[in-house]
Amino acid sequence: MSDLLKEIKRRKTFAIISHPDAGKTTLTEKFLLYGGAIQTAGAVKSNKIKKSATSDFMEIERQRGISVATSVMTFEYKGISINLLDTPGHKDFAEDTYRTLTAVDSVILVIDCVKGVEEQTEKLMEVCRMRNTPVIVFINKMDRDGQDPFDLLDELEAKLFIKVHPLSWPINKGPFFKGVYNIFDKKLNLFRASSTKVEEEFIAIDGLDDPELDIQIGKDAFQLREDMELIDGVYGNFNEEKYKKGEIAPVFFGSGVNNFGVRELLDSFVRIAPTPRSRNTEDRPVNPEEKKFSGFVFKIHANIDPNHRNRIAFLRICSGIFERNKFYYHVRLDKNLRFSSPATFMASEKNIVEEAFPGDVIGLYDTGNFKIGDTLTEGEKMTFKGIPSFSPEIFREIINKDPMKTKQLEKGIMQLTEEGVAQLFTLSHGSTKIIGTVGDLQFDVIQYRLKNEYGASVDFRSLSFYKACWLTCDDQAVMNEFLRTKSNYLAYDKEKNPVFLASSEWILRLTQQDFPKISFHFSSEFKKDTVIV
Ligand code: G4P
Repeated sequence: MSDLLKEIKRRKTFAIISHPDAGKTTLTEKFLLYGGAIQTAGAVKSNKIKKSATSDFMEIERQRGISVATSVMTFEYKGISINLLDTPGHKDFAEDTYRTLTAVDSVILVIDCVKGVEEQTEKLMEVCRMRNTPVIVFINKMDRDGQDPFDLLDELEAKLFIKVHPLSWPINKGPFFKGVYNIFDKKLNLFRASSTKVEEEFIAIDGLDDPELDIQIGKDAFQLREDMELIDGVYGNFNEEKYKKGEIAPVFFGSGVNNFGVRELLDSFVRIAPTPRSRNTEDRPVNPEEKKFSGFVFKIHANIDPNHRNRIAFLRICSGIFERNKFYYHVRLDKNLRFSSPATFMASEKNIVEEAFPGDVIGLYDTGNFKIGDTLTEGEKMTFKGIPSFSPEIFREIINKDPMKTKQLEKGIMQLTEEGVAQLFTLSHGSTKIIGTVGDLQFDVIQYRLKNEYGASVDFRSLSFYKACWLTCDDQAVMNEFLRTKSNYLAYDKEKNPVFLASSEWILRLTQQDFPKISFHFSSEFKKDTVIV
């Protein structure tokens, strides 16, 4: 087997996603402990920005620093090279998370057993469904008195629109939580609260009728046998292929902070999670095994040192082998670029890499050549699909407070929007510039960074738009009619695509009724499933 094939087969690239506080950071840390990437608990700092920090700019800067360091965490487990991509938990940075999801091959979704499916969970899952990303669910905090496990499974199916399949099953809960029964391996995993140990106590039992079960868990054995009978009847055998297609989500139960159920989860992950998958370009699918290198930029991070205005572009490798100091073709700019210090980051340590393989994510130092979605190849003109902009939810007009700094302001806005901090729209009438984001916090970040990095002062004026919708229509005459009659509500995005700014859901529906031939899209990538119905 060639090096390339061997390396692809031993790589798994994934993200852990959750509603804030469900336990993503805790689980990440435990995985790194198992992978030997860190030695002690507490080494991974949370990159979540707490609500109270909204106007604490130093805190935002500090957090940005932390999230560069933990953007990609690579560790080895059982001979598998695992790339764990970090996603910001704060909802105001949700778009960053959505984009990171374009660079992974699967996800682990963490649910708090007390709270069940929460708002952010639903949104994240929607993005996974759009791309058929395989999902493993980890129901966390089983040491707490949470909801009934059957109810949780029903809730997952009802709210996340995905079929689930339990692969482990909790024995009692809260203060009476005894552990889990591993349905897959038919093993009993007994719960002992501990935040530091990395060994768990597994007891092999010979099926559910084994009297050892009664010795170990006493009268809970009766309930477990009943539950398992029900599970067998309802869920049958686990279909790994359906998991890989994103149709079935296996479910595990545990307690991250107590290090319980984590080894089981990680073992199953390395066994069933997909290796790097093929990815679509606008012209053709690209398979990881292809000899020629290709990759795309899904995230750009400004350097934390404001004196050096260089940035780091994060590139997901899709095919072939990336080599340091070799020239690669930047498709959008139509020019060749060479990278002398491609890096991987791990808990604030930065390492230069000589070569990287499909599934890997590397950081490229950038002085303004990249924007999100850019493709690098060995010469082929192609662009990877699937890195859309999502419709922002908050819109504000930019007010330039210092006309002497107009040029700096324009440059700053261009660069910040290229980094994906926010989206820029220009009204079709006049030259009013509108910033659209998914959260309030971005406006603080933009104002602060424009001042500190570009010397420009801005204010924002709130605009009461509900959604920005990208438009497509097969009938050009209808489109022209729309653009003419709706010109007061029309803007253009950075790529000059027309965008309808709807002031309310009601207006949007009325407009759709008036123009049935026009498709309104929530995301800049015009997929059928993003059309509003
Ligand atoms: P997040 O990244 O998804 O936002 O969650 P994080 O891991 O930071 O966990 C949120 C809180 O939940 C933390 O408590 C964490 O200790 C706790 N937690 C995580 N896993 C479990 C679990 O299995 N059982 C219980 N009971 N709690 C769990 P915190 O008080 O916010 O922070 P800390 O002071 O403990 O760090």
